[in-house]
Amino acid sequence: MTAEYQVHGDVAVITLNNPPVNGLGLSTRQAITAGLEKAEADPAVKAIVLTGAGKAFSGGADIREFGSPKAIQEPNLLSVILAVENTSKPVVAAVHSVCMGGGLELALGAHYRIAAPGCNVALPEVKLGLIPGAGGTQRLPRVLGVEAALNMIVSGEPVKSEMLAQLPGQKLFDKLAASPESLAEEALAFAREVAAKHADGFALPLVRNLPCKHKDGDAYFQFARNMVKGMAKNFPAPPKCVDAVEAATKKKFADGMAFERETFINLMWTPECRSLRHLFVAERAASKIPDVPEDTPQRSIQSVAVIGAGTMGGGITMNFLNAGIPVKVLEMKQDALDRGVATIRKNYEAQVKKGKLKADKYEQRMSLLSTTLSYDDIGLADLVIEAVFEEIGVKEAVFKELDRVMKPGAILASNTSTLDVNKIASFTQRPQDVVGLHFFSPANVMKLLEVVRGEKTAKDVMATVMTVAKKIKKTAVVSGVCDGFIGNRMIEQYGRQGGFLLDEGCTPEQVDKAMEKFGMAMGPFRMGDLAGNDIGWAIRKRRYQEKPDMKYSKTADLLCEKGRFGQKTGAGWYDYVPGKRDAIPNAEVVQMIEDHRKALGITPRKISDEEIVQRLVFSLVNEAAHILEEGIANKASDIDVVYIFGYGFPVYRGGPLNYANEVGLFNVVQAMKRFAKNPLDDAKFWQPAPLLARLAEEGKTF
Ligand code: NAI
Repeated sequence: MTAEYQVHGDVAVITLNNPPVNGLGLSTRQAITAGLEKAEADPAVKAIVLTGAGKAFSGGADIREFGSPKAIQEPNLLSVILAVENTSKPVVAAVHSVCMGGGLELALGAHYRIAAPGCNVALPEVKLGLIPGAGGTQRLPRVLGVEAALNMIVSGEPVKSEMLAQLPGQKLFDKLAASPESLAEEALAFAREVAAKHADGFALPLVRNLPCKHKDGDAYFQFARNMVKGMAKNFPAPPKCVDAVEAATKKKFADGMAFERETFINLMWTPECRSLRHLFVAERAASKIPDVPEDTPQRSIQSVAVIGAGTMGGGITMNFLNAGIPVKVLEMKQDALDRGVATIRKNYEAQVKKGKLKADKYEQRMSLLSTTLSYDDIGLADLVIEAVFEEIGVKEAVFKELDRVMKPGAILASNTSTLDVNKIASFTQRPQDVVGLHFFSPANVMKLLEVVRGEKTAKDVMATVMTVAKKIKKTAVVSGVCDGFIGNRMIEQYGRQGGFLLDEGCTPEQVDKAMEKFGMAMGPFRMGDLAGNDIGWAIRKRRYQEKPDMKYSKTADLLCEKGRFGQKTGAGWYDYVPGKRDAIPNAEVVQMIEDHRKALGITPRKISDEEIVQRLVFSLVNEAAHILEEGIANKASDIDVVYIFGYGFPVYRGGPLNYANEVGLFNVVQAMKRFAKNPLDDAKFWQPAPLLARLAEEGKTF
């Protein structure tokens, strides 16, 4: 049963029990209405308490039902709320911990509400491209006032119950319990109190009957619309939140509900909403590995060692300090250690200055940090992460040392971005304990973590590092071993297309603008300037040896020959003013591109933004299809997660493969065939990957 029914004297208690967050799936909804009927039929019951077991009152809709007929099967949430409202005995919602989305809408159907302090209250539907669809936009303004309610609905952010209980005139909570522990007792007492009040048939209060007005309605909603327009950009839901709350102030309750419903359903069909829901599920699915069951035993990670205190080592260290896990950093020389620690301090101090970190927290974090020059000091760490120079000889020396000193069962991880993790594992006598943990720069900021599974990596190591990733607030995706793993292997093709576009007639600015309009956080050339153009240069030099028949534009090499490595040298594809990140177009670079084009005998043509976007995005898609077919990625949605959290792909497009699905794989393949005919492009690359070709032919999606 996903809701339990118990009678305590004259009060019936219906307890939602659908772990992990009491999602309002079909069986839970059925159990609630069954409980209400039972209570209604029992003459001994005078009042009903509706509450949640475990971690939540209710987190809202059950995501496992997304897109299935169960989601709307009767009793749907609207019907359950109606059943609560229509119960002739007072219903008291007793909420603790999490009360979100449909959970809050359910509570708003109750006659009374009591909350524990510390409860997270939210209507987060906007984050999935939706508005609340079970009365949230109509009832919340009636209990909180229009402005407070609209702020919550448009942001989707949780607000603490004790904050809400303090709002003047609020009717959301009739009572705030003294503590989460006393909530159950206090709810029973409160239910008895209201039962006595209504014993003589005195009408039960309903939120729907409360007035909903704003004293300067038109002006306020105009203001709200302008605010939201600036914020929402390509997201369709926020302006609709404003419309729906305005409807609550202008229409009768039933008409407002109809308006909310219609808006909700229309949004449900937008590609943005589909993409956001895809991403929501994809992010949660990424931590699941097909052949590593959830109950796989895990190793305990209480302490960490980091080898190398450079750019990555420092950022990686901060992640663990932030999570309260002690870190010992090892370097070859004292001055490198000092520099690394100073950078960590500087980063934290900047956060303190901005008010993002309290001074005592800062000290607490720094107290977890220690340093050493000797391998003999780190042997007891549960996990060691290597972030030294990207040279296989250096990695070999380090892993041999680690093999010598680390205690049995310690996990040995490498942050390598290009080297073969199997080879690195082979430097040790314990390849089963070796794994790749590929962080993204800046490692203390970027959410993505590629977990690189070697041929011999043990399952419990995989299970453990996925849990560690969660602890340090990263979104982890598993990748097999290949050059560049998932993300960088794809970006190489994207970069190659960027080069061809310059040769054929684009400027870096035109390409970047087109991609940024599409929604990328940064176009490819601004991204190159940020990451350092020398990195791509080094990779290309290797490729010229390994794959002499692979086609490349030489423009980026010419740029690097000028020393224009990007932001770190103050000049790359663009110019940069010290301390600022604004990209300023540079006439010499544009001239360099033109000269190179002339030297190649190419007559420039005007290239549309549409072609730019398609060539760049579909190059990601084609490489991704190879990656998927080779089993480097476990599932298509993992690749989408990599691109959203590691490469600034627009969230409302749900990742490159979701975007390809939206465009239609048939159309994607047609476009590739067109690109293959362009003599200045790489016809071989544009042969659709077999998996893509097959799916397109069968009318399927990734
Ligand atoms: P870095 O040059 O900033 O730092 C490397 C540090 O390792 C230096 O402080 C150096 O003194 C130290 N080191 C070198 N050999 C050592 C040894 N034998 N024992 C102890 N310490 C040693 O390099 P960065 O950028 O931090 O890169 C480190 C690793 O992370 C590389 O494998 C790189 O491919 C990878 N990586 C880099 C990313 C980036 O954006 N910079 C992104 C993802 C991975």
